[in-house]
Amino acid sequence: MPIATFKIKTPAKINLFLNIRGQRPDGYHELCMVMQAIALFDELTIAPNLDAASRGDIRVTLEPNDLGRLLGKTSARDNLLVRAYRAFWEAIKLPPLGLHVHLNKQIPVQAGLGGGSSDAAAMLLALNHLSHAHLSLEELQRIGASVGSDVPFFLTGGTALVAGRGEQIQPLAIANPYSASHPSLAWLIVKPRDLGISTQAAYQAVREASAYRQMTPEYLLLALQKSSQSQSGSNNLAHYLQNDFESVLFPQYPALEAMANQLRDLGVERPLLSGSGPSMAGLLALNPASQKAVTSVFPPDRFQVFWTHPHLSGPVQV
Ligand code: C5P
Repeated sequence: MPIATFKIKTPAKINLFLNIRGQRPDGYHELCMVMQAIALFDELTIAPNLDAASRGDIRVTLEPNDLGRLLGKTSARDNLLVRAYRAFWEAIKLPPLGLHVHLNKQIPVQAGLGGGSSDAAAMLLALNHLSHAHLSLEELQRIGASVGSDVPFFLTGGTALVAGRGEQIQPLAIANPYSASHPSLAWLIVKPRDLGISTQAAYQAVREASAYRQMTPEYLLLALQKSSQSQSGSNNLAHYLQNDFESVLFPQYPALEAMANQLRDLGVERPLLSGSGPSMAGLLALNPASQKAVTSVFPPDRFQVFWTHPHLSGPVQV
């Protein structure tokens, strides 16, 4: 089957609302979340690999930037992209099409920004197209969930209400969440270079503290809706942002608490941990003065800093 090379940009995410309700019999945690795709992208270049030796398998090469070098040290088995490739062919029970995927990693790894899951979702969408399998979104979500809890969200991206262990997705039709009325507002993302937090360890900390509760994001959803209709500003929104990991991770990692305070000093009303961290997000006006202030508080040798905005879908072909 002749296929041409094509490129996909696939976004990062932040969690506007993350409530951990309890542990399930399968060991995972029951969640209620609002996830938001943001315009910080990994780029995948996908080409057929007709090399006899590697036919019917995937070869992943990494753009030799800092992140690529870091990721190069992890084994292929741990790479969600490779796991998504294998899970897809296993599900459709057809001989795999050999592929060469070149990954230009821009989303920090082990950061709470979902980069690996986003790459996996992009892989599933690409394979669905290339194989002509025409699996439904539900089928892709099921395969995605077998690869990782955050993968199903990225198949549709945008803004979504997410339940279960991450596999139940309800996309929300919010035209231009919380920036329509404030076009200069950006989501500032800050990730300390020397801190990585394992998701598994973060859930374990929550479990040990029994930090479970039942919350619903209805006020956040109302605020998002109003903001997208230009009826109110972001200030309203700040009150309803929530991440249950904060109460256990802030005491354990003083660096996170310090970052939250620095973000507040810069004018972020509600600094928000993303996923299980250590990235933090905050709404801030984007202008030369704020950029200068952020760079001096979060210098590039110690922090990765991104000014982003909501991305209204999942992976996109470029
Ligand atoms: O599904 P994924 O492999 O991304 O999850 C990584 C780890 O995070 C799991 O091994 C599990 O310990 C934890 N997790 C959880 N509950 C969830 C999602 C993830 O306990 N809903």
